[in-house]
Amino acid sequence: SRTRYYKFDIIMKNYTRLCHTRSIVTVNGQFPGPKIVVRDEDRLVVKVTNHVKDNVTLHWHGVRQLQSGWADGPAYVTQCPIQTGQTYVYNFTIRGQRGTLFWHAHISWLRVTLYGPIVILPKKGVPYPFPKPYKEVPILFGEWFNSDPEAIIAQSLQSGGGPNVSDAYTINGLPGPLYNCSAKDTFKLKVKPGKTYLLRIVNAALNDELFFSIANHTLTIVDVDASYIKPLDTQILLITPGQTTDVLLQTKIQSPHATFLMAARPYATGQGTFDNSTVAGLLEYPPTSHMKSLPLLKPTLPALNDSAFATNFTSKLRSLANEQFPANVPKHIDRKFFFTVGLGTEPCSKNQTCQGPNGTKFAAAVNNVSWTLPTTALLQAHYFGNWSKVYTTDFPVNPPFPFNYTGTPPNNTFVSNGTKVVVLNFNTSVELVMQDTSILGVESHPLHLHGYDFFVVGQGIGNFDPTKDPAKFNLIDPVSRNTVGVPSGGWVAIRFFADNPGVWLMHCHLEVHTSWGLRMAWVVNDGPLPSQKLLPPPSDLPLC
Ligand code: C2O
Repeated sequence: SRTRYYKFDIIMKNYTRLCHTRSIVTVNGQFPGPKIVVRDEDRLVVKVTNHVKDNVTLHWHGVRQLQSGWADGPAYVTQCPIQTGQTYVYNFTIRGQRGTLFWHAHISWLRVTLYGPIVILPKKGVPYPFPKPYKEVPILFGEWFNSDPEAIIAQSLQSGGGPNVSDAYTINGLPGPLYNCSAKDTFKLKVKPGKTYLLRIVNAALNDELFFSIANHTLTIVDVDASYIKPLDTQILLITPGQTTDVLLQTKIQSPHATFLMAARPYATGQGTFDNSTVAGLLEYPPTSHMKSLPLLKPTLPALNDSAFATNFTSKLRSLANEQFPANVPKHIDRKFFFTVGLGTEPCSKNQTCQGPNGTKFAAAVNNVSWTLPTTALLQAHYFGNWSKVYTTDFPVNPPFPFNYTGTPPNNTFVSNGTKVVVLNFNTSVELVMQDTSILGVESHPLHLHGYDFFVVGQGIGNFDPTKDPAKFNLIDPVSRNTVGVPSGGWVAIRFFADNPGVWLMHCHLEVHTSWGLRMAWVVNDGPLPSQKLLPPPSDLPLC
């Protein structure tokens, strides 16, 4: 293994999309940002210098960060922001992960333009568990705003209403031909016939789960969230913000007389939180003749609210484990948690006009607690023992009232507020069931846990039944991931060992829900051995 050095300078740069030019926050002037390539067990050293007026932090989404929580990146959780003119070096090692992850800004809405892929190759000499691809291509979904997204979220938090949706979805920063004034900004994948391509797909969009398909081609999924899975053939895949999916694309044996459209558009179960436009790119083979215009074949994508497709798709993902060599899923559970995730409201103060439901403000919560961002970082407070000024340890392990997703929503939709955490002893085996609420209508929420991969042992539609559902859990070959969709009007069950000391954020990866407070944190105590302790903070850790 070796150490790989990257230099990330945060600078402003003009970019034009949809005929709108904006000065956007970038890494090294690139949009999307630079690609990081490492091997499993390599050390990564990324020197980040902030040359813009906004405060910045970067997060290495899905990297386990064993003992290196100081490098995780969520603002006011593991670090204070890197202020204008400051430098912070993110220093961490990849351990036992292979596939694709991504990095993104983790403060306010800056991740709109600050994101890029992390390609994790196997250790030297270790092959893929699938045929070696001819070529590897990152495919990043994102969003483009014609106006400043920081202003959009600030305005929406102020007014309590929903923020404006973006103006386009993008593939590798390009909206594609289906948007106005955008045909020249189209992602083109030029392929050769008879080859296998590995597409490393990342959903870095802010607020939408996406369906993706390539006309007349099968996608074979081989890896999700940097863990291999049993190969799964599909025409269409679903990917939530925060998830990554590696697929093999087998090109046709001979150059066909056609061009193929690849397209993505939202899977949107909530009300008014999506737009229905489509990002498209082209799959092009070498020309077969002198014919000028080839027919363009388009893929079919499910309806915006096709939850049946979503449930069926996610239930088919299985890890490489089997009966003989089952996955290392916790069997005996030390602590069980039941969390509701969903939207609610906050009261509107007297001198305000609020644009949320019934004159309130939109809020979002876990077990009815909407997260309050502190003004200093939780991890420092935990490490130096002065946490009682920063957070409380009374995060509710069950919802404050019985929950029935099919029933009439409660009269009182108000959330409570706080910076509350759950404290876990080192190596606690955890089972967490997350249930979507119907307080303001059912909606799917992609929940992301920092510092861990977890096993997705079960999911279902309706209310979770603790007497019947656990018997159906998959403890043999459940998929291992860092972000899971809590189904619209349903539940998902995950299990993990709390073997990484530190403070770990868990939140909905729909940025608007995070902003409304759909986040909480786990504090995991050190274990007895040196290899089970959080290392001391680096000397350049930014201060608040
Ligand atoms: Cu990808 Cu807390 O984030």
